[in-house]
Amino acid sequence: MKLAVLVSGNGTNLQSIIDAIKGGYLTDAEISYVVSSNPNALALHRAENNGIRTLIIRRNNMLEELNKIFLQVDIVVLAGFLWVIPDDLLGIKPIINVHPSLLPLFGGKGMYGTKVTEAVIESGMKVSGATVHFVTKDIDGGQIILQKCMEVRDDDTPESLLERTHPLEHQIIVEALRQMSEKKYKIIGKRVIFP
Ligand code: GAR
Repeated sequence: MKLAVLVSGNGTNLQSIIDAIKGGYLTDAEISYVVSSNPNALALHRAENNGIRTLIIRRNNMLEELNKIFLQVDIVVLAGFLWVIPDDLLGIKPIINVHPSLLPLFGGKGMYGTKVTEAVIESGMKVSGATVHFVTKDIDGGQIILQKCMEVRDDDTPESLLERTHPLEHQIIVEALRQMSEKKYKIIGKRVIFP
C-alpha cells in the first residue's frame, strides 16, 4: 500500500505513521511522498530524516502536482494539511483526513487546531475525541472510518484539550490505515463497514 502524506505543520501524525511502519504495526505500507503546503514545516524534516521523498507545493501548481502524486499511490493521507483539496482531485484515490474532534461535530471550513477544541469547550460537551474520515466535497463531512473518545476536563483549555487529543489522533490514523490495508471495506451511505 503506497501512501502520500500531505502536511502543513509539525507532522506528529506523519511521525506516527513512520513509526508504525518501522515498528512493524503497518506491514503492508510505505510512504512514497510527503507533500507540504508549507516550506518551513517541521514535517518535512521528519520525512527527510527517514529518507522519504518530499515535495513543496504552491497554490498555483497544487492541482497538477497533486494529480501526479495521487496517480502514483494507493491512499492519500491528510495529516494536518491546511488547504482544501480541489474537487477535481476527489475520486482519483481514497483520501483520508484526521481531525481533532468527534465529527460531524466541530468540523467545517476554518476548523483547525485550537479553533476546534475551543468550540468543544464552549459547547459544554463532556467528551471529545478524534476522527479519521474520508475526504469528500463536504469539508470534514465525509464518511467516518474510525473515532476514539476522551473526557473533557473542567479545567481544560483549548490548548490542553488539543494536546490530549493528539495521542488519540496518532493511534487512530495508523489503526485506520491498518484496517484499510487488511480488509476490504464497504461504504454504505455515510457508514464505512469493515466486514
Ligand atoms: C492535527 O491535530 C490534525 O487533527 C489537525 O492538524 C493537526 C496536525 O498536527 N487537522 C485538522 O484540524 C484538520 N481540520 P501534526 O502536523 O502534528 O500531525
